[in-house]
Amino acid sequence: MKKIGIMTTGGDCSGLNSVINRIVLGARNRGWRTFGIIDGTDGLCHMPANAIELTPESVPVEMARMAGSFLHNGNSGIMNFETAIKMGRVDQFNKNLKRSLATLHLDALILIGGNGSFSLAYKNNDIYSKLSLVCIPKTIDFDIPLTDRTIGFDTAVNELVKYCDQVLLTARSHHRWFVVQTMGRECGRLALNAGVAVGADAIIVPEIKFNVDDLVEHVRCVPRDYGIIMVSEGITLRGHSGRPADMISRALTAAGITNRAAFPDYIQRSGDTTAADRITAAKMVTCALDAIENRETNVITALQDNVCKTVSLADFYAAGDISRDPNIPDLCTSNAYIEPDDPLLDVATAMNIYIGEMK
Ligand code: F6P
Repeated sequence: MKKIGIMTTGGDCSGLNSVINRIVLGARNRGWRTFGIIDGTDGLCHMPANAIELTPESVPVEMARMAGSFLHNGNSGIMNFETAIKMGRVDQFNKNLKRSLATLHLDALILIGGNGSFSLAYKNNDIYSKLSLVCIPKTIDFDIPLTDRTIGFDTAVNELVKYCDQVLLTARSHHRWFVVQTMGRECGRLALNAGVAVGADAIIVPEIKFNVDDLVEHVRCVPRDYGIIMVSEGITLRGHSGRPADMISRALTAAGITNRAAFPDYIQRSGDTTAADRITAAKMVTCALDAIENRETNVITALQDNVCKTVSLADFYAAGDISRDPNIPDLCTSNAYIEPDDPLLDVATAMNIYIGEMK
């Protein structure tokens, strides 16, 4: 009987509980036991590791639709990776991880994480050398290469749509534009998808250069005196500082366009999991359990053309844009962004949405 560990790391998103629930159900179906590691690598680092056996009763299906993680994602404050970085004790931290992991006697570990966690796992591969490591990509930012979807992205888009649908009502009532700032770090996919879905009149993303005068001109030409301008949190505006939506808002005000900046913030990570994210969860979990059965290791589940397959951590790392992670000194993470040939950019342009200076 195999023993499978499950761990959620990095920023949370909706869909984590669906993944955990489906792993427990799928593993039981194969006659395997599952153990949840509490608080991600913080909990794993404890001696003994902070882990509990999971059953379908401990991760009930009716609660699996809810955001957050049954297992928590870390930052417990007791002992964590950030403290280890600050104290220059990352090597010790990694040694502890390997030692505590060994005490769990797991056959496999399913790491539900983002590009930071996967890049770390790839670089510190030795920690997981005694078991089968299978990663399931989750992030609202959808900044992971080689997969057509990440868990949590669809729900985040839907949460933004619900938010903007409401905001549009007050916008109309007060003849006002709303500059809505989305999350996403340096990746504009969340803003682009949500912007197209709500019918925004402009979408500003970090990947595409824009010009404020052109934006103002575009807004003036819209045959309405209200609407949504979607702004991704990763954009910058030369000569301005502060939150991106505030910067754009000030520029519009200076041009005489009545507007407000709005911040949906953490609701993007916390809506009830959409059906699409749940189906992705079920597909990725099935793929992950098959991979464990086939003794694969150091792989990521990836949705490609609607089929879920595994790709190696090495391929994942090589496929992305390798850049320094501001939060983790010495670590380069592998990131994905909006590609210039993303068909949604053409769709946005065809809908007369201002998206900046397209080549
Ligand atoms: O990576 C997910 C994400 O929600 C980003 O979109 C956002 O910039 C960041 O996490 C916020 O992180 P924190 O939880 O540390 O505020």
